[in-house]
Amino acid sequence: MLADGGDGLPPVSSDLSSNENAFGPSPRAVAAARASLSLPERYRESAAKELAEAIAERFGLDAGRIVVGHGSDDLLARLARAFLNAGSELVHSRNGYLKFPNYAHANDARPVPAADRCLRADVDGILACLTKRTRAVFLANPDNPSGSYLPGAEIRRLHAGLPERVLLVLDSAYAEYVDATDYEPPERLVDEAPNVAMTRTFSKIFGLAGLRLGWLYGPPLVADAVRRIGVTFPVSTPAVAAGSAALADRAHAQMVFASNGAIRRSFSEELCRLGLHVHPSQANFVLVRFDDEARPAAAAYKFLRATGIVTRRFASPAYNDHIRITLGPNRELSRAARGLAAFLTGAA
Ligand SMILES: Cc1ncc(COP(=O)(O)O)c(C=O)c1O
Repeated sequence: MLADGGDGLPPVSSDLSSNENAFGPSPRAVAAARASLSLPERYRESAAKELAEAIAERFGLDAGRIVVGHGSDDLLARLARAFLNAGSELVHSRNGYLKFPNYAHANDARPVPAADRCLRADVDGILACLTKRTRAVFLANPDNPSGSYLPGAEIRRLHAGLPERVLLVLDSAYAEYVDATDYEPPERLVDEAPNVAMTRTFSKIFGLAGLRLGWLYGPPLVADAVRRIGVTFPVSTPAVAAGSAALADRAHAQMVFASNGAIRRSFSEELCRLGLHVHPSQANFVLVRFDDEARPAAAAYKFLRATGIVTRRFASPAYNDHIRITLGPNRELSRAARGLAAFLTGAA
């Protein structure tokens, strides 16, 4: 997100608020998007199919079960529209991805928040929420804002506890950033189960947030239902061109993965040395807790903002003591760390 310097605040020099890709997209993706603009007056009939085939090839999946859309948000919203109705329930981790309740409300369904453990999704908490009315469980893995993840064994335990009529939706927006060895690629369970779907995005590791491109992989009936309720041309020509080129540039994605992992480690260690609590993250952001009442998170946010650095605060009381910081370029994170050091020591 790009913010201006309204409200008498200095202009934003570092936007570390929206979990965008600090390294940008593959230059080949940008070039492909530009080149695709030669016939903007045309609908591109085959765009969605071409992209689904490119995704299938890259990740070794069945193209017929892939649905593409306007960011993974579009696919999550369509899943909710296809599977929820008045009186049905969507179970989600209480402090997990904050949009999940909206998907229920938009379809007159009831969002049911499941207890978590220290902001991390909890399988038993989710299973305890199941009722006759439960239609779907939405889980972001890794989760946002906490950056936490559930290992494959826990996801399988969750799935084993669900009746087959309940759809498990694994929102895997940050899957490509994970380096935990016990994380299981979500497509494996999708391939084995009739009631599991996953959503993925081009907004994060592929650096194409502004082009709005996401995809779903699910059982044939789920994919079909979601495809049918989409708009006629669900993705734009430049987005498809960029997405296909981004998929092909494996070296760029690998560079982003490795750089993000290194920065995640070093930045987390730096903030820990300042006495802050950093939730272990598997994503491209870290959630930071401020335990000193004299130096609270809200003041830290304002302090950084006054130096042009924007981070993210959340309205939910569970996040009162936290700010979330997107892992930006090294130079910007060094500034953020220096700013936090000055804030904590009162040296500013
Ligand atoms: C967990 C999670 N899911 C889904 C999304 C939606 O991403 P997009 O619609 O850009 O694919 C986001 C965006 O930040 C996210 O954090």
